[in-house]
Amino acid sequence: MRQTNKKRPGEVRDAIVDYLQTRPTGATVQQIKSAVYERLGDVAPSSIRSYLRLNTPTLFARTERAQYALTGFQEPARQRPVSPGKANTPFQFGDALLLHDDCLNWLRNREPSSIHAVVTDPPYGLFEYSDEQQEKLRNGKGGVWRIPPSFDGAKRSPLPRFTVLTASDLRRLEEFFVDWARLLVPVLVPGANVVVASNPLLSHVVSGALARAGLERRGEIVRLVMTMRGGDRPKHAHNEFNMVSVMPRSMWEPWLVFRKPIEGRVQDNLRKWKTGGFRRPSADKPFGDVIASSPTKKQERALAPHPSLKPQTFLRQIVRGVLPLGEGVLLDPFAGSGSTLAAANAIGYKSIGIERDARYFELARSAIPRLAHAKVGSAATKRDKSSLSSHRSSPLPPCGQLSA
Ligand SMILES: C[S@@+](CC[C@H](N)C(=O)[O-])C[C@H]1O[C@@H](n2cnc3c(N)ncnc32)[C@H](O)[C@@H]1O
Repeated sequence: MRQTNKKRPGEVRDAIVDYLQTRPTGATVQQIKSAVYERLGDVAPSSIRSYLRLNTPTLFARTERAQYALTGFQEPARQRPVSPGKANTPFQFGDALLLHDDCLNWLRNREPSSIHAVVTDPPYGLFEYSDEQQEKLRNGKGGVWRIPPSFDGAKRSPLPRFTVLTASDLRRLEEFFVDWARLLVPVLVPGANVVVASNPLLSHVVSGALARAGLERRGEIVRLVMTMRGGDRPKHAHNEFNMVSVMPRSMWEPWLVFRKPIEGRVQDNLRKWKTGGFRRPSADKPFGDVIASSPTKKQERALAPHPSLKPQTFLRQIVRGVLPLGEGVLLDPFAGSGSTLAAANAIGYKSIGIERDARYFELARSAIPRLAHAKVGSAATKRDKSSLSSHRSSPLPPCGQLSA
């Protein structure tokens, strides 16, 4: 007979509740059993079934056949899915195609093995791009977005506040990225690079999720940039503790590097799928993992006023690097203003972007051509300058500049 450990009263129930908090649409008994097993080790399956039965409908609700959810548990504020009849018509600019859709829907229907690289900047928390939080941002009141204190008279852009995420928010975030990456993997060709913008507070969660979904971790690209996070003295005690920073002032941003496992050797994969490595800036210079950057410039933000706009100089270096032979299709499933597509266009790559928010989709239609034509320092262009991917770390920009 199978041995199971005796559990404290309530322990199994708490594990079920804990798991179902991350699954607002419910889960099957089998999924619940595996989640409880992950949290508590071996638990008799019959005790899980009886906990569910005994506590339904007080604590749990049956959603569909063999699906349970927490009673009264509110699905986190989400955007309404884009219904096919309501979606804006696709926007094409050169080799860039922008679609108004939810990327999870789109990935479900995408042809397998048809994407050669991903560069994306997803929502870090699940809430900052929900209808509710976007409304608060647009009204300039409350929510996860905050305006960092001004410095030297410089006005700052709103930033999402990730230190407010609770343990269960983090679990929900992880589940989201596992689900997302599980949908992504089949549409990638073997060896496809997946580069995901993150931040030092959450990168471990996203990284664990992508690995769980079957992608291989290949390192991180460090974007050297002075952000407005951290560094402050204790709130309401600035003078008393004027030599203290509560958290380190963040001066870099991690861009996680993953890859779909290759078939055979790298050279075989390169021949068959055109993927499996990074494009070198020049024959004598490898693609490196530290890129000096600066916050997105005012001029670019005027062309594409999205709260998380990333700079073209940086994006063009990453985008160019992820297709080792310069062939294939690049995807940005969280396209925002379309800045990744604009970078791909400037390099001469084919790209597809997905954006769910109708207002950002509209914004991207005008921003992509403008950003693609923007002159941006020494970044790559179709002429393929060899000054790309400079690994020299230039002095950090003064902290009076805006960050994005
Ligand atoms: C961090 S922003 C990306 C900004 C982009 N890097 C730029 O430079 O403009 C993330 C974007 O993903 C969009 N988004 C969030 N969830 C999505 C989903 N499930 N499918 C498609 N887009 C989504 C949000 O509306 C937001 O515009």
